[in-house]
Amino acid sequence: MTQSTSVTLTSKDSKTLCELPVLSGTTGPDVLDVQSLYKQTGMFTYDPGFTSTASCRSAITYIDGEAGVLLYRGYPIEQLAEKCTFLEVCYLLLEGELPDHQQLQAFERNITLHTMVHDQLNNFFKGFRRDAHPMAIMVGVVGALSAFYHDALDIRSKCDRQMTAIRLLAKVPTIVAMCHKYSTGTPFMYPKNKLSYVENFMRMMLATPCEEFEPNPVLVKALDRILILHADHEQNASTSTVRLAGSSGANPFACITAGIACLWGAAHGGANEAVLNMLEEIQDVSRIGIYIDKAKDKSDPFRLMGFGHRVYKNHDPRAKLMRETCHQVLTELGLCDDKMFKLALELERIALEDEYFIEKKLYPNVDFYSGIVLHALGIPSKMFTAIFAMGRTVGWISHWDEMIADPEQKIGRPRQLYTGAARRDVPAIHGNAV
Ligand code: ACO
Repeated sequence: MTQSTSVTLTSKDSKTLCELPVLSGTTGPDVLDVQSLYKQTGMFTYDPGFTSTASCRSAITYIDGEAGVLLYRGYPIEQLAEKCTFLEVCYLLLEGELPDHQQLQAFERNITLHTMVHDQLNNFFKGFRRDAHPMAIMVGVVGALSAFYHDALDIRSKCDRQMTAIRLLAKVPTIVAMCHKYSTGTPFMYPKNKLSYVENFMRMMLATPCEEFEPNPVLVKALDRILILHADHEQNASTSTVRLAGSSGANPFACITAGIACLWGAAHGGANEAVLNMLEEIQDVSRIGIYIDKAKDKSDPFRLMGFGHRVYKNHDPRAKLMRETCHQVLTELGLCDDKMFKLALELERIALEDEYFIEKKLYPNVDFYSGIVLHALGIPSKMFTAIFAMGRTVGWISHWDEMIADPEQKIGRPRQLYTGAARRDVPAIHGNAV
């Protein structure tokens, strides 16, 4: 980070208010450093939704929304999706470099040794209704990890933070699969260490004590890719939530839970589930026009789920990769003629040709296709956001770790533009209360 120049703020009558440094990163837009603004002028900045605010400095992920570029630690997402496994990407995000063969083996082994959850954690599930949403259970059970793993919680210790990272990466898939098993009333499947990360997760989700799971390499690769594509996305809403929660020095398991809670919303990670619900509501290709009109109608709150993105205003590079995977999975499973998938592809075609969507630069995002792929894998739509959380866990931990290690780190404490009542006195009628 270097200071390239500075900007002088002047009032309407040309009085100099303050001089603010302009900082440059490796690549991407410069930032105006406003840390001294309040001290110099008595004013705050106002930016609801943080559309013009860099909340921190970070060396993990870079996005160029106009050009449709996504880099993890400098590597293009296309190359990582093609050449790496999810666990290699996890190592990269956490450690800053891709692992060599030995480092990868040690990392995989370490994760494998932590996949089981404390047996008493099983009791937590029984407290939930069978029809509870998996994200509701995730918020409760991942939060509960903070009550089980006390031995490595010195957040100032790099070694303890690494142990927490390994535990979360290893245990979140087990918990996600347990959420599914609990909702279907089938027994929890314990992890099997000889399987890969993704095979193990699929087995815990899809096998039963009576029926073994036979991994299909095309489907395993598809789920691995979903996890890679969701692994990180710089300062998105849930990651910023994790950073804010962590900035007070809170327990890391609780911080990740805050991220899970934020991810649940339909404008964020809930979109992949919402895509499937929307397709089920549309029902038939003949009704697509009605829903396109609803999406364009400003008096109707309906939005086309899986379309649009806050940062990508040209194309979402993850969507292109997920689309490719989507076609591979549908072909592998012989589902190309399935009604639901035909409907999704027709909706994509019609929206991409529609003037409203072209003008507003609304393209399918990664969740449009990931919802379809997960549905084809036989995973119920209620589980989709939990699987997104499983992929994003590594991003959340990497950002939490980076923040804790940052010597400039302070508790996150935004200010506000107050618009409530000015100071006033309590009226006499309430004056006698004790
Ligand atoms: N359908 C119809 N119109 C839309 C859509 C949509 N999916 N998305 C945006 N618009 C319109 C808005 O109505 C707005 O129109 P206006 O300028 O006439 O008021 C314009 O496009 C800009 O939309 P904003 O909401 O201002 O854009 P923002 O960047 O705040 O929102 C968001 C991005 C939340 C992703 C939005 O596009 C959306 O709600 N999409 C559907 C939900 C979704 O797919 N979310 C997944 C995001 S990806 C992820 O989390 C991995």
